Parts: sequence; structure tokens; C-alpha cells
Amino acid sequence: MKAMPLPHTNLVGSRLILGCMGLGGGWDPQTVIDAQTIREAQNFVDAGLELGANFFDHANIYAHGRAEDVFGRVLHDRPGLREKLILQSKVGIRWAGNPAGSPQRFDFRKQHILEAVDGILSRLQTSWIDILLLHRPDVLWEPQEVAEAFRILKEQGKVKHFGVSNQNRFQMEEVQSVLPDPLVANQVQMSLMHHGFAETSISFNQESPRYPDGWEGVIEYCRKNKVQLQAWSPLDRGVLLGDTAGKPENVQAASLLVNKLAREKSVSPEAVQLAWLLKHPSGIQPVLGTSKPERLRACAQALDVELSHEEWYSLFAAARGKPMP
Ligand SMILES: NC(=O)c1ccc[n+]([C@@H]2O[C@H](COP(=O)([O-])OP(=O)(O)OC[C@H]3O[C@@H](n4cnc5c(N)ncnc54)[C@H](OP(=O)(O)O)[C@@H]3O)[C@@H](O)[C@H]2O)c1
Repeated sequence: MKAMPLPHTNLVGSRLILGCMGLGGGWDPQTVIDAQTIREAQNFVDAGLELGANFFDHANIYAHGRAEDVFGRVLHDRPGLREKLILQSKVGIRWAGNPAGSPQRFDFRKQHILEAVDGILSRLQTSWIDILLLHRPDVLWEPQEVAEAFRILKEQGKVKHFGVSNQNRFQMEEVQSVLPDPLVANQVQMSLMHHGFAETSISFNQESPRYPDGWEGVIEYCRKNKVQLQAWSPLDRGVLLGDTAGKPENVQAASLLVNKLAREKSVSPEAVQLAWLLKHPSGIQPVLGTSKPERLRACAQALDVELSHEEWYSLFAAARGKPMP
């Protein structure tokens, strides 16, 4: 698999990041890790390594910690593997009831960040993670408190680099202004169907309302400051890849075109959909979500697909459900 240097680091990561949200047996808090769950994690890691991937994305909340837990067991059983991988995780989302009586919330307070990272390291059975992302903005955050937490984590050697997720340009600017080191990444939802990043580029001075999700300036800020953009849900959770009967017209049209191009290029539809993101000049890194080895292989074909300028815009128009303005 193609690799790329990660800006502001000495890391070289696979062009596709392997998301680990699907590991650990799902979101039911009562689930316990069994032999099958561990086997799935082993098969997932093996398939990724066979494809040449080395970059894995976690969050402390995935499967209520079980995603990191099973991954840590795989690492434990394979001495020497940890050093070959780039491990990224996220903190800042807290579920209701933890501790008892508390609501679901976001938490960028220093103590929570420090405790959450200790939990991540213990579950992953490692002494460091390469990249820590702030998962979803905490309305009540104090940037100085985040900076202090990051300083301690770096000093302790527990985290090498820091980034954010789901942050707009102004939030990135604010946190960056108090950090000594550059943010290395922003992980945001981006895909053919969730295409606000592209819509924003063509919406200036249009009469129709602008895409209402705060994308203004994010691409430009990230390119200028070399903040690596990572795309979560890059395949729209498979909506274009299955039966689209009864789905909105633009979903059906996009799916039809994705499948047509896949046939013409003799690749999987997953590859075409991912190639649409990969062609963006900001160098977006998709974070794959499948936990199935065969689907990972279908996705990896994306690195061999070159969409023409015209194919890219045809897909964009189909997904928008209308031509360019
Ligand atoms: N920063 C954030 O806020 C945030 C939010 C969400 C996710 N993430 C990260 O982003 C990663 C990807 O997110 P995602 O899971 O939503 O991404 P996705 O790649 O768009 O969707 C993957 C999901 O769709 C299913 N799927 C159905 N058909 C598929 C097909 N033909 N090909 C591939 N997948 C298909 C997969 O199931 P199977 O496993 O059965 O294949 C899986 O549940 C996560 O693992 C996580 O690391 C980050």
C-alpha cells in the first residue's frame, strides 16, 4: 500500500488509515470479549498488514473501550508489532452514566484528558500512542487546560503528537494559538455523499444557502498549516454499495455512477468511491470503517484508481443531485 510522510512528524503512514470502531463486539455495553471477538481483531490486523497498512485509528469510546482492549491483546501476542504501527486514539466524548447519574457530554478538562489517555495505554498494552486527537469540541473547554494536558503527556512520553477531530477553522486556530507544537491532523466526516468540504469551495456568492456545516476555510487552513485531513465515514457506511431501491434520487444516481465506473475500470465500487476523496488536492487520508478483511481488500484497490477531472465532477454532480452552479 502507498505510504505518505505525516506532516510535522517523522512518521510515514499508509495512505489509508484503518479505523477500529468496528472491533470489540459492538456498542452494547453489556457485551463481553470472547474468542470470536479476538479472532476478528486478529484477522482484521492481519489483513491490514498484508495490504501494507500500518496506521490504525481508535477512540477510547469505541465499543466502550473493547475495541482498544482487543487490539491490545493482539499486540500483546505479537512481540515487535507495536513498533511497526502508528496508533492514533481520541479522547473527549463521555457517555451518560459514567460516573452514575452524569449525562452524555464532551470533556476537554485536563484531568479527564490525562485519565483517558492512561486508560487508552492500558487497554492497548503500550506505553505510548503516536497521535492523540480531541474527539469532538467541548463547548466549555479552556484551551490553556488542553495545552497543559498535552504538555504533561508529551513530557511523560505517553503521546508523541496531537491533533483534533470535528473542528472548524476557528477552533483549530484557537487551540493552535496556545500549543508549542503544530497540530498534525483534523479528522472530519468527508465522503462523496457528505461533501460539504467540496460544496463550500463552489458556494461563494451563490443565492442558495451555503452548506451549513462550518467548512468555510477548513481546507485552506489545513493546507496552509500542513494539518493532515483525515476522512471518517469515507464510504457513507456502505449506503451506495448495497441496494439503493427506495433511497433518495441522488443516492441512487451516485450509486449507479460509482458502479458503472467500477465496471469500466475493473475495480470494486468501494475503490471508486474512495478514489473520489483521494483525488482531492489536499491529500485527504480516508479512515476505513470496515472490519471485514474482504472489504478491506476491496477498499485498498482505490490506490490504483485514477479518476479523470470529468469523472470526479460527474460523481460530485450525481451526489449533489444537481449540476454545478
Ligand atoms: N472522529 C469521529 O468523530 C469519527 C466518527 C465515526 C468514525 N470515526 C472513525 O472512522 C472510521 C470509519 O468510519 P465508518 O465506520 O463510519 O466508515 P465507513 O467506511 O463509511 O463505513 C464502514 C461501515 O459500513 C459498513 N459497510 C457496509 N457495506 C460496506 C462496504 N461495501 N464497504 C465497506 N463498509 C461497508 C461496514 O460494515 P462491516 O464492518 O461489516 O464491513 C462498517 O460498519 C471508524 O472506524 C473510526 O475509526 C471517527
